[in-house]
Amino acid sequence: MSGFDFSGRDSFGSRLGVIAAAAGSAVGLGNIWRFPYVLGENGGGAFLIIYLLIIFAIGIPVMMSELVIGRRSQRNPVGAFRTLAPGKPWFLVGMMGIVAAFMILAFYTAVAGWTLEYIYQTLIGGFNGKNSAELATMFESFRSESLRPALWFSIFLVATAGIVLGGVRKGIEKSTKILMPLLLILLIVLCIKSLTLPGAGKGVEFLFKPDFSKITGTTVLMALGQAFFSLSIGMGTLITYGSYIPRDNNLAATAVQVSMVDLIIAIFAGIAIFPAVFAFGISPESGESLTFIVLPGIFQQITGGMAFAFAFFFLLAIAALTSTISVLEVIVAYFSEQLNISRRKAIIIATASMFVLGISASLSWGLMRDVKLFNLNIFDLFNFTTANILLPLGGLLIVAFLAWFLPGGDTLDELSNGGTLKLKYYRLFRFLIKFIAPVAIALVFLNGLGLVKF
Ligand code: PHE
Repeated sequence: MSGFDFSGRDSFGSRLGVIAAAAGSAVGLGNIWRFPYVLGENGGGAFLIIYLLIIFAIGIPVMMSELVIGRRSQRNPVGAFRTLAPGKPWFLVGMMGIVAAFMILAFYTAVAGWTLEYIYQTLIGGFNGKNSAELATMFESFRSESLRPALWFSIFLVATAGIVLGGVRKGIEKSTKILMPLLLILLIVLCIKSLTLPGAGKGVEFLFKPDFSKITGTTVLMALGQAFFSLSIGMGTLITYGSYIPRDNNLAATAVQVSMVDLIIAIFAGIAIFPAVFAFGISPESGESLTFIVLPGIFQQITGGMAFAFAFFFLLAIAALTSTISVLEVIVAYFSEQLNISRRKAIIIATASMFVLGISASLSWGLMRDVKLFNLNIFDLFNFTTANILLPLGGLLIVAFLAWFLPGGDTLDELSNGGTLKLKYYRLFRFLIKFIAPVAIALVFLNGLGLVKF
């Protein structure tokens, strides 16, 4: 099989390791913190159906395309396009991915820092006896402080850098293989607990019973953004991870399995949260504070609640960590390969610059609360722009690259592992990346951003 060969590059050691690392990237705060609140704000069951359609028709093909580009080129997102399309402007797609990686890591690690604060609060009994109004005040006053959010953010960033420093196989693969199963077990326990609460049925109904009258252009844009964010696609995470995947790995199977794990965990998170939300008469539209205000309230009202609270926030921190390492890895691979410096140096530069950006994001309700663009603070700006603009736009260009630029033989070669795998789905895949995915992304964009109205 041809393709580029840069031997001596670090790589994943096993099939399971590939799945653990890629699913570790995909499964994160996006599934457990973001999915429920975005779904709650955008119509519940109807949102879920659109979300499913997007995963299958757009998400999986984009993920496959990224894996193809990564493994073919054996490079970071910028180097990948430079290798596969020398002298052409395609590398700008990779650059856009690096910008997105910085922005995502900044606000994402800030939320990851909140989970550490909440683990700490469960340990010192900080929620005890507080009603929901008091819990809301507690969350808001924590967020608007200037020291603590920045401190927790820094701790989380250093932990992330520590794992990435361990390397692809010994750091990323090894840690995710332990953390991912642990996360699944904790989540299942929480689902069972939530489903056995009196009145849980309403939450299940909210999650699974579609009310199509609630669908608007914005709903679809939010579902698209959520799908890209949750699958970690559109910014080159899977180009980077793809470049570490062994030659005999079935890329299409990997993409489908990772997407299914991601989907299932998001649905489990919904099952863990909404029955409890309804059982305690709380609004599903509580926004990004849903996890941090609503859940501690619920935990207090159930027996053994603080143990569950601890388990939950611990789980959230783990899920976040296996994702932050994948985002940092993108930046590190880019710096080390494109600037030709050691990984260690690249990690130091990346982490140091992240401090500045991330602390600004984590102080969006504190010291930096007056810094606003389009009426959004730094955190909201990064959250909205990456998920709803940069990632879908990146995804559009990535599929376009495969559909219209990369020789078809190269794609076929990567997906079939040099002709050893039979590809029954190949024509469907090409149809999806040539027509369905780009047209759908473009339409959702124009409509969701209010540029075209249907
Ligand atoms: N997919 C991760 C999550 O759902 C977030 C992420 C986005 C990670 C983009 C990498 C790249 O939490």
